[in-house]
Amino acid sequence: MPASNSHSLPRIRVLATGGTIAGAQTGGSRGYQAAAFSIDALIGAVPQLATLARLEVEQVAALGSQDMNESVWLKLAERTAAALAEPDLAAVVITHGTDTMEETGYFLNLVVRSRKPVVLVGAMRPATEISADGPMNLYNAVAVAAHPEASGRGVLVVANDEIHFAREVSKTNTTQVGTFKATDRGLAGLVHAGRLHLYASPVRRHTAESEFDVAAGSTLPRVEIVYAYAGMGRELIDAAVRAGAKGLVVAGVGDGNVNATALAACAAATRSGVAVVRSSRTGGGVVERNIEVNDDELGFIAADELNPQKSRVLLMLGLQRTSDPAALQEMFFRY
Ligand code: SIN
Repeated sequence: MPASNSHSLPRIRVLATGGTIAGAQTGGSRGYQAAAFSIDALIGAVPQLATLARLEVEQVAALGSQDMNESVWLKLAERTAAALAEPDLAAVVITHGTDTMEETGYFLNLVVRSRKPVVLVGAMRPATEISADGPMNLYNAVAVAAHPEASGRGVLVVANDEIHFAREVSKTNTTQVGTFKATDRGLAGLVHAGRLHLYASPVRRHTAESEFDVAAGSTLPRVEIVYAYAGMGRELIDAAVRAGAKGLVVAGVGDGNVNATALAACAAATRSGVAVVRSSRTGGGVVERNIEVNDDELGFIAADELNPQKSRVLLMLGLQRTSDPAALQEMFFRY
């Protein structure tokens, strides 16, 4: 569906998945239904988009991103790759709920083999809310995707006038429009009513340089996340192993630590062939090897900078290639 007749503008495909950006209030100022509006309706509400790009749309899913899952990730990766393989298509924009946008973004950052821009965009307020943030976010996302300098920077997230690297960004607030933050590394740039100010380049390997791939029909191994807390027991770790997890990410306290009981369960998991990654529940910082926990002796992998949910994404892809903890550790240093 071309939204502009100007053939000098870049061709951009918008892949829609739902989320609050396509959501409607269900009554009063409380409650809403995610994915109530089609992508055609969202684009139709922002006629200024026709000055930025020739947009085409594809509704890949229509869900709240709490329901995002591996099979939609694989479909999205396939649709993104297919779009970017078209020689005269400049970029892909993906509309997505904010709740799990960081996971989808990081997944695509690892598996989409292209230097062309891929930009994820969402909104915190439903489309029918007072001062909905979706229209400006969508306009800015298309402006970023259309800009030549957005190429080769990996998958980006645009919201609230900010441009973030998918690897670095996290949702940090349940309701505020400024929810996306990259605690340790800061912004990729700013975008004001479509005007870009790009500041930084990605620090780790991504997209075109990535070793990961998701061929058609591939499946991802089961990886569970277990959250650490004072007085934690071993039951959930043991249950994950019994349920067939190939990998386990611990959202550890501080530097990715757990108490002696949980540590013994994690060590037993590695002995039974499960890859165990120590991440942190703190929301920032680096989990280092062999500082508080003897990773060499216990066969653990330190998450480096990745939060638990992004550690899970990398571990799933890594386990498709190897179950060797040393090789997996190198991936956590590389990506
Ligand atoms: C969702 O993630 O689908 C709901 C929340 C949002 O998009 O802001």
